Amino acid sequence: MSNISKLSSGYEVLEFDELDSTMLTLKDLALSGCNIKTVVRAKKQKQGRGRHGRVWSSPEGNLYFSLLREAEKNLKNNIFAPVFIVAISVAHSIIDVSQHKIIPKIKWPNDILINKSKIAGILIEHVNMENTKDLLNIGIGINIISNPRKTIYPATNLRKENINISPTVLLNVFLNQFDKIDKIYNVDGIEKIFEMWNDLGHKIGEPVSVKVRDKKITGRFNGLSKEGGLLLINEAGIEEVILAGDVFII
Ligand code: BTN
Repeated sequence: MSNISKLSSGYEVLEFDELDSTMLTLKDLALSGCNIKTVVRAKKQKQGRGRHGRVWSSPEGNLYFSLLREAEKNLKNNIFAPVFIVAISVAHSIIDVSQHKIIPKIKWPNDILINKSKIAGILIEHVNMENTKDLLNIGIGINIISNPRKTIYPATNLRKENINISPTVLLNVFLNQFDKIDKIYNVDGIEKIFEMWNDLGHKIGEPVSVKVRDKKITGRFNGLSKEGGLLLINEAGIEEVILAGDVFII
């Protein structure tokens, strides 16, 4: 059973004790016509999903939710817009709740790190609608009191970083941030979003390696491409544009 609360910002939050995955429940709700700004939160998930088909470990105490938003009208030009908007919103939520003591880093495109360890992950899935605009199912997991040990990236949690906060409060902080950053995007455009991402993202010249399918490319970060891809100068000195892959900070 779910607990439903309507927030002044227009979000409707449906809260469940346990779900397989908030992604699945929100997708079903979207296909049966629920409103955008519907949020599905679970206290724990039995089959939490991560990027690239990985598992997202989801024991009780952390924050797991999915949020419904309209997809971009001009997806071709703004493929990374929602990805970056959400990443910036999560990072700013952590800045807020730490009272500016912690400034997380965004690892391209949207992993949130504290001291090189992953604190939050974002999974965005497209929902194709028959008669209405396509939608985005935006899934977010933030480690609050625990983090998995055996992961491809080192992980941390907010409590370990001396931030004590409940999942409910953190979700409200996030929804306010998300509204704010989404408005900035609508008013000032993708350039402003790139600027905000760059403030928290990799620094030019930073050594990175990227795993694209079975290939590993090592080099130095050289900024974002015009569509938001990662520009990397490889070991041969040639610039490559990466549009999908797992990035590792060396
Ligand atoms: C990643 O691999 O970094 C993305 C992780 C996304 C996890 C969240 S938790 C809430 C939502 N439900 C899921 O099953 N996955 C996302």
